[in-house]
Amino acid sequence: MTEFRQAKWDEPLIYELSKIDPSLPEVIVKEASRYLPEKYIRKSLFIPDLSEPEVVRHFIRLSQMNFSVDLGMYPLGSCTMKYNPKICDYLASEPSLINIHPLQPEETLQGLLEILYELKKYLSMITGMDYFTLQPAAGAHGEYVGVLIIKKYHEVRGERHRDEILIPDSAHGTNPASAKMAGFKVIEIPSDPDGLVDMDALEAALSDKTAGMMLTNPNTLGLFEKNIVEIARKVHEVGGLMYYDGANLNAIAGLARPGDMGFDIVHLNLHKSFGTPHGGGGPGSGPVGVKSYLKEFLPIPYIDHRDGKYFLNWDLENSIGKVHGYYGNISVLLRAYCYILLNGGEGIRKASEQAVLNSNYLLWRIKSLKGVSLPYSKGVFRKHEFVISLEPLKEDTGVTAKDVAKRLLDYGLHPPTIYFPLIVKEAFMIEPTESVSKSDLDRYAEAMKAIIEEAYSDPDIVRSSPHNTKVGRIDEAYGSRPKTMAPTYRWLLGKEE
Ligand SMILES: Cc1ncc(COP(=O)(O)O)c(C=O)c1O
Repeated sequence: MTEFRQAKWDEPLIYELSKIDPSLPEVIVKEASRYLPEKYIRKSLFIPDLSEPEVVRHFIRLSQMNFSVDLGMYPLGSCTMKYNPKICDYLASEPSLINIHPLQPEETLQGLLEILYELKKYLSMITGMDYFTLQPAAGAHGEYVGVLIIKKYHEVRGERHRDEILIPDSAHGTNPASAKMAGFKVIEIPSDPDGLVDMDALEAALSDKTAGMMLTNPNTLGLFEKNIVEIARKVHEVGGLMYYDGANLNAIAGLARPGDMGFDIVHLNLHKSFGTPHGGGGPGSGPVGVKSYLKEFLPIPYIDHRDGKYFLNWDLENSIGKVHGYYGNISVLLRAYCYILLNGGEGIRKASEQAVLNSNYLLWRIKSLKGVSLPYSKGVFRKHEFVISLEPLKEDTGVTAKDVAKRLLDYGLHPPTIYFPLIVKEAFMIEPTESVSKSDLDRYAEAMKAIIEEAYSDPDIVRSSPHNTKVGRIDEAYGSRPKTMAPTYRWLLGKEE
């Protein structure tokens, strides 16, 4: 092995790989001055002076320091990190789509508007909703749009006093955050011993102050809320609305529809279930669907169709307003459109079934390992993800869920989500997705077994892991410290900032 690749944090920046002469050749500046006023002409430009192979090798080298869905199983629970077909990237990069501008007249954007209109129709079919906006840029953004719709709905009906949103304790943190940002009080509903919404606690929390309830189904424990129809009935009975957090749609797409379970509003994470990876800071998309009685509250402009023409409809009576520039994150929307056409209804259903099968296979391979427990184990089957607890392992050996997660990296495997949901101690939340093979699942189970054995025989090796990665264990508190102690994130004109 060469020593060269052993570098840890000292990987050079592209600017450090070359000498940069920022001054632009005089002839260019002179030529530009024929067309542009002096104040708009750059005199310098900081572009590294490197050849194509040097640039390509630099970035490929950096990419090899990372882990990706294209490299292997990435079972980050609640994030649905599945393989995304390359054809979707390819079609979303089609020049006739990427070279248009959102400010072009609508007549010249008919093709794109048609695709987006069709996509809304497909999303409505999949979720059982009537109308969709494609503007929200992420799941959390979709939630915020959803709760603003709930707020406006009650305001228009003269029921401003409804200021409470009910949210189960197993919910994703963005749910209470979105409700709070929209000005609601959050009422936490505890889970019952089976990990489902506690029906008595729900009953006790409902009142004429209830604006709505936010819920994901299956919930973050991977359990299907079997009382969902009853829950929706109770919330509706007191005048509230039901909001579906679609982050977990990968378990039920093509099999069950939130619109049929009694939900009034839904967001989807297209960057999970429909052809774009989640996270990494890339663009996302969290379209929001509503039942017909809530259409008037959707964000404007709304993509519409009349007399054979697609157009932007600015005329929604009680719209909550605009929530994103132009139409939304087009590249993610195009990938989702392609993904849906590629799979069809049958393929989408199969993907959900496979995701659930894979999750249960892995669960059954690891749930009985020493040091592992399965909370809420009355229902032993899960949907597309499951949560085990490594609390017994911690008690026996001092090795934590975080240590085991780090050690998985040494085995070339991406760790799952840890310490979420908050109701499970030393939580290990695994979502294999449909895009892994049985041998991937077996390899993961074998690695878990081997690491747990290490934890009992030589705990230090697990506690000090990872050992085989480019970057070792990071002090996670460091990044949030005051500026003087914080790590360097960017480089500016030869100086660190
Ligand atoms: C259950 C659940 N709800 C909501 C969200 C928020 O989605 P986003 O990250 O796109 O904002 C997530 C994110 O992973 C999630 O897992």
